[in-house]
Amino acid sequence: MTSAHLDRMLELARHALVNAHAPYSRFRVGACVRAASGRLYAGCNVENAAYPVSQCAEATAIGAMVTAGDRQIAEVLIATEGAELCPPCGRCRQQLAEFANADTPVHLCARERRMATTLGELLPMAFGPGILEPPSA
Ligand code: THU
Repeated sequence: MTSAHLDRMLELARHALVNAHAPYSRFRVGACVRAASGRLYAGCNVENAAYPVSQCAEATAIGAMVTAGDRQIAEVLIATEGAELCPPCGRCRQQLAEFANADTPVHLCARERRMATTLGELLPMAFGPGILEPPSA
């Protein structure tokens, strides 16, 4: 993908981050997923007073993508505003694996640092939809 593409994903993720509902952690996260269709979907984290009910930014972006009818993730970007990168949490890795492949690029972007990895590096030996077999009759 072109760097202009990544710049646009970062812009959308950073815009989403501004709307994060993170009054408890004060840790705002923005995510952007690029679907195979080329469409981009952004999301932010949405916390809850019942802390475990909180939703990560990636889940919000995935929800927007699925709602719009896309099912295949081609690229992922996760943005934070601080110095530290935000690698996706374990739950998010699994949620991404439902719609992405081991070689799907995942970009981590902090205020001044960036790194690129893949979903396969983040979630080796993943359990995914391909493992499920239909029950035998
Ligand atoms: N968070 C995300 O949005 N994505 C991740 O992959 C890791 C953590 C959010 C959840 C919570 O609102 C805040 O960051 C602190 O954990």
